[in-house]
Amino acid sequence: MARGDKPADKRVKTARGRTAQSTRWLARQLNDPYVKRAKAEGYRSRAAYKLLELDEKFGLLRGVRHVVDLGVAPGGWAQVVRRVSPKAAVVGIDLLPVDPIPGVTLLQMDFMADDAPDRLIAELGEAPDLVVSDMAANTVGHPQTDHLRTMGLVEAAAEFAIATLKPGGAFVSKVFAGGTDDTLLRQLKSAFKTVKHAKPPSSRKGSVEWFVVAQGFKGRTEV
Ligand SMILES: C[S@@+](CC[C@H](N)C(=O)[O-])C[C@H]1O[C@@H](n2cnc3c(N)ncnc32)[C@H](O)[C@@H]1O
Repeated sequence: MARGDKPADKRVKTARGRTAQSTRWLARQLNDPYVKRAKAEGYRSRAAYKLLELDEKFGLLRGVRHVVDLGVAPGGWAQVVRRVSPKAAVVGIDLLPVDPIPGVTLLQMDFMADDAPDRLIAELGEAPDLVVSDMAANTVGHPQTDHLRTMGLVEAAAEFAIATLKPGGAFVSKVFAGGTDDTLLRQLKSAFKTVKHAKPPSSRKGSVEWFVVAQGFKGRTEV
């Protein structure tokens, strides 16, 4: 290979039995630098870099002690939290099973179940100082339904964060297509000192995924 040449893209050898969409997905995975980096650096997902990049921009992870990870599978974000703050206790929840991660308690259940919030806090044993959510609803291919289901998860995650965070705590959540809706944004702005939207460089350009980052939780006002 001549100096300056880029290595040739890997080709998907056979498309037999694959749909065009899954062939495209596989080709993208094989040539994705973040997938390669995740493998080399021992992260379970390329998603790990989204949290690392958000941390670089917003300073979310250093010194955190109690963290809830919503939609934890396969565990990339939880690994990132533990690498940056090895003393942090992390509780993660997912519909899917997750291989054990040292220092991370894993609940396999639906976050939308009535008892999920109490189970998370009981496992953590303390109010969290950080709640992160990378949850995404399985898409059904009907844009309005998909949007509503995902926004339902974001709203539930925000409600959980506002109900449980320690004062000064932070909330990070994946959101879609233009970010949070007006009502949720107003709610976050009244509960946190700063609320920003960001698209980290590792989030694929073609995807509608963004993240909302809310920092400086003001605390709950007693009624
Ligand atoms: C993009 S993945 C998370 C990747 C993870 N942050 C990482 O770095 O490995 C989204 C996850 O959200 C989970 N999820 C979606 N809806 C959920 C729900 N209602 N309760 C719990 N987990 C859910 C999915 O099962 C999926 O594993």
